[in-house]
Amino acid sequence: MRTFADLVARAVRLAGRGRAVLGLAGAPGAGKSTLAQALVSAVPGAQHVPMDGFHLADVELERLGRRGRKGAPDTFDAAGYAALLARLRAQPQEPGAAVVYAPAFDREIEQPVAGSIPVFGDTRLVVTEGNYLLLSDGGWGAVRPLLDEVWFVDVPGGARTERLVGRHRRFGKPREAALAWVRDVDGANAELVDAARDSADLVVPGDLRLQRGPAR
Ligand SMILES: Nc1ncnc2c1ncn2[C@@H]1O[C@H](COP(=O)(O)OP(=O)(O)OP(=O)(O)O)[C@@H](O)[C@H]1O
Ligand SMILES: [Mg+2]
Repeated sequence: MRTFADLVARAVRLAGRGRAVLGLAGAPGAGKSTLAQALVSAVPGAQHVPMDGFHLADVELERLGRRGRKGAPDTFDAAGYAALLARLRAQPQEPGAAVVYAPAFDREIEQPVAGSIPVFGDTRLVVTEGNYLLLSDGGWGAVRPLLDEVWFVDVPGGARTERLVGRHRRFGKPREAALAWVRDVDGANAELVDAARDSADLVVPGDLRLQRGPAR
């Protein structure tokens, strides 16, 4: 698996099963969302459903006293994510079947937004992605059995730090705050994610040259 075309071919084979769910795991900033979007553009009948939509809202993180480490495994609704994946697997596979709605994460407001992503009955491949697909603790263990394959998106720590600081800054965080967040919060989460790397079906480089296929 050296090129994006190889990954597309593998995803097309998965989509040939009728309904498959492909997971992309990896540390913060590894390039999971970017790869998911590129795959969905290149594979007919594919849709992107991010784990990020299951971030707990800030109001609930305040109640739990976890707002300061937003992004950690226990700041997501892991059971809700697993329940959605189970619904997606059980969704009848025909045009006109009832839509299953997934939440998205809005980076402008840094909040989840319910009902954002309609998953259609004739979708053949769901590409889901997030940090904690391969974790076994804290309710995350229910996720892996609901995924047909998991690919681990791998990027060396230094490159990932630069990317993350750049993205935080684009969304308005001052440089010092962005650096501190990436070091203290994202860094700890990245260690947890990296520990599960060996249980993936495939490891893909996060700096792959991605070609965009025809938009659906
Ligand atoms: N293949 C790539 N080549 C070059 N840059 C990339 C590539 N993939 C992603 N990037 C850049 O890296 C940054 C992080 O990418 P992305 O948002 O896809 O990561 P992520 O794994 O989804 O992160 P998070 O866990 O925080 O959601 C983005 O600024 C993106 O433009
Ligand atoms: Mg992402």
